[in-house]
This record gives sequence, C-alpha cells and structure tokens, in this order.
Amino acid sequence: MRIIITDSYEEMGMEAANIVAGQIYLKPNSVLGLATGSTPVSMYQRLAAVHKTVGLDFSEVTTFNLDEYIGMSPENPQSYHYFMQENFFKHININQDNVFIPDGMAEDMIEEGERYERLIEAKGGIDLQVLGIGQNAHIGFNEPDIKFAATTHKVALDDETIQANSRFFASVKDVPRYAISMGIKTIMMAEHVILLANGKNKAEAVYKAVCGDVTPEAPASILQLHRDVVVIVDKEAASRLPAAIRGIHIVKK
Ligand code: PGA
Repeated sequence: MRIIITDSYEEMGMEAANIVAGQIYLKPNSVLGLATGSTPVSMYQRLAAVHKTVGLDFSEVTTFNLDEYIGMSPENPQSYHYFMQENFFKHININQDNVFIPDGMAEDMIEEGERYERLIEAKGGIDLQVLGIGQNAHIGFNEPDIKFAATTHKVALDDETIQANSRFFASVKDVPRYAISMGIKTIMMAEHVILLANGKNKAEAVYKAVCGDVTPEAPASILQLHRDVVVIVDKEAASRLPAAIRGIHIVKK
C-alpha cells in the first residue's frame, strides 16, 4: 500500500484525479471502476476541469460503478445513476454506451449480478478501481460480515450505513434498505485500486483498512492483500494512523 496524506479534501481529490488522468493518458481505453458518495466529488470536479482545460479524453474510456440502491430507477435524483450523470458524466466526453452501473430495478438480482460480472469480464476487467470507505469500513456496499462476499450481489445495508446516508434523503425512513454491489472479489480483481477518505469520521475505518487485522468485519482491510493500492486521505481521516506512517507520507505543498 502507498499512502498519500493531504492537507485538505480538495487536495485529496487532486491527487486522486492525477492518478486517474495518468491511467487514461497511458491507456486511453481504460476500464475504470467508479464510486459514488461525497468523498469522490472533488476528484470528479478536478477530472472534469482537466478535461475542459487540457482536453483529457474520455471518449474511449469504459466505466463500471460499484453499486446502486435496489428499487431506484436511473431518473430518481437519489439514484447513483443520477449522481454519476450530475457529478461527472455530463461534464466530460464519455460515450454513454461505455457507462455501466448495476440495475437497481432488475427483477432478479442474482441474474443481474451475473450479467454485471460478465460485462466486466467482456471489457477486459477493471484497470483502476476508485473506492470510498464507510464509517464501518465497508467498500462498495460490502458491509462487515463473517465472510468476504464474492462477486456482484444483493446486500442488506447496515443500520450505520442507513444512518450515514440519510443525510442525502428527507428522512431516514426514505433510505433504501437494499443495494446491489460489486463484491470483494470483483474489487480485488482490479489491476490498480485507489481508496479515498476524508474527515474525522473516517479515521477509525482508515486505521482498520491500513493497520488492522485482515477480517471480513472490516471489509476494507482485505486491500492489504491487494498488490497495488494507493490510499489517499486528508489529514483528519489519517489522524488515527501511527505517527510513523503520518510522518513519512504527508504531502507538503
Ligand atoms: P461517502 O460514502 O463518500 O458519502 O462518505 C462512502 C461510502 O459509504 O463508501
């Protein structure tokens, strides 16, 4: 694992955008795995700016999102389909035929999970996967469990996740209870991974991901076993990491 600690949320997004842009420059038809939530928004804004100012070209890029709420149509402003269009896709020159997000309206979630996995495989696998992390150390919607989940599957959201995500809804009652998510195996198959986190409320989860035991009770801890992970965190999210790690990795501007 390589760890980058930044002074601010904006710098976290900039460091992440640099890695994504580098990936696209090196391989214009890259397959990206993408995340939703508040965390990656500054990265998306930066990438959109790089597209606008120096023409970073997304026309050959393919994207696969991590997850979607079950029962949400793409037109629903709370859906992750909608989030991605608003926060990223409408600002860049992506070909919409190359955009893939699990279908939260599918009738059969087992079939939908299998279809999604086949699509990823058909596109040659994910080159670079972007991840956020939940306060309970989930990645995608892989909640703490007694075993590591495998491929794209239906998940029941934890109470902690429902509470955390209620900030995007009128009331906690409106937060969906189920989602369809790439599994840990799907994520671990990606060639490169970047994990982003900001804010004090993520410090414990980041500690577990980087320094904790590798256990399904802290799903992000599995990333310690991946061959190429860059963790990009602001100093609040890094605040529980041992001083030795923080001393080495701080990005000084
Ligand atoms: P957030 O969500 O970026 O909105 O904090 C991250 C996650 O739950 O994975």
